[in-house]
Amino acid sequence: MLVRRALRCAARPGGQRPPVRGLRGSPRARTAMPSWVIDQYGRNEVLRFTRDMVFPVIHYPNEVIVKVHAASLNPIDLSMRSGYGATALNMKRDPLKIKSMDTEFPLTLGRDVSGVIMECGLSVSYFKPGDEVSFKPKCLSHVEAASLPYVGLTAWSAINQVGGLNQSNCSGKRVLILGASGGVGTFAVQLVKAWGAHVTAVCSHDADALMRKLGADDVIDYKTGNLEQQLKALPSFDFILDNVGGSTEKWALGLLKKWSGATYVTLVTPFLINMDKLGVADGMLQTGVTIGSKTVKHLLKGVHYRWAFFMPSGPSLDEIAQLVDSGKIQPVIQQVFPFSEVPKAFLKLEEGHARGKTVIDVVNKK
Ligand SMILES: NC(=O)c1ccc[n+]([C@@H]2O[C@H](COP(=O)([O-])OP(=O)(O)OC[C@H]3O[C@@H](n4cnc5c(N)ncnc54)[C@H](OP(=O)(O)O)[C@@H]3O)[C@@H](O)[C@H]2O)c1
Repeated sequence: MLVRRALRCAARPGGQRPPVRGLRGSPRARTAMPSWVIDQYGRNEVLRFTRDMVFPVIHYPNEVIVKVHAASLNPIDLSMRSGYGATALNMKRDPLKIKSMDTEFPLTLGRDVSGVIMECGLSVSYFKPGDEVSFKPKCLSHVEAASLPYVGLTAWSAINQVGGLNQSNCSGKRVLILGASGGVGTFAVQLVKAWGAHVTAVCSHDADALMRKLGADDVIDYKTGNLEQQLKALPSFDFILDNVGGSTEKWALGLLKKWSGATYVTLVTPFLINMDKLGVADGMLQTGVTIGSKTVKHLLKGVHYRWAFFMPSGPSLDEIAQLVDSGKIQPVIQQVFPFSEVPKAFLKLEEGHARGKTVIDVVNKK
């Protein structure tokens, strides 16, 4: 977890070009910054605080450097700490090997931030130094804003880009959210509700009140009785978002309306595990075969089966900011930790049973 981050504005005009240095913003006198890093993959003990991480440099003209005010944790940070997905994520982190390092260590975890632009590459026109990114909902603090980008864009990708639901076609649709009480789920419930859907949320009993506050019409406790039977007793669904995975997909597709375009989208996929186990080429091949065969199998039964992934998108973040500023979506934060307690925040996430998000306040001390 860095105090400052170099981010690429991939979704903005300008595209990705060969590495060119160039920046707009205040001249940089600093060379080092405080960070939490890991030097090997493992359990929480591998997290190390250092004041000596090299200050980020703009490598591409479409990059910006952000002073991080707050950051939130996601299950993928835990997985990355343990080395899961290292093959694919290293490739994504440094596709052109411009840092020419033999190793990814020391590695800084964390991807979900709210902060202020410090410097911009020469082709960046959408942001300028001093902007609160990206663009931060005006009504939120940095701590609140940091809880939204990763889960918001993941839910947006699954529901809108993959699932095809939007403001114009969602009204009255019956939507089922499995794993509704976590980071993605609490956002997803609010998003489809804002678009007029009838929402059924599946969660533990103690999350019932939170779900109803966020707008869920029906709330089902998955720990009491047979979940499949409870859901079968309800009218069929037009859309299912699965944040739980595992055995869920064996029965959940049977809850969809048949031959009406109804869609099941899961966020829990073997994509990164396949790459870790089989390497990039064979892993992608295995992934393609698995998704292809499942898609066809379910299509023949009259429903759509899809996988979804977090997708970075500036325009989608702007739409999310509007929904937040208009009061239709609110951040759901379970606990805030100071920067000095990043390992405690990781342990909190590792306990599971998230009710919204765990956030690090990087700027304000306890
Ligand atoms: N494909 C992608 O790009 C992508 C992106 C983001 C997230 N994900 C994945 O999506 C999943 C959800 O992410 P998240 O950030 O929302 O995780 P999270 O914040 O840890 O939330 C998980 C939630 O699921 C609940 N839960 C656990 N078992 C359940 C069950 N059987 N039925 C219903 N609820 C259950 C948990 O509470 P209780 O245990 O108390 O019930 C918790 O509230 C994770 O597996 C994550 O790795 C994938």
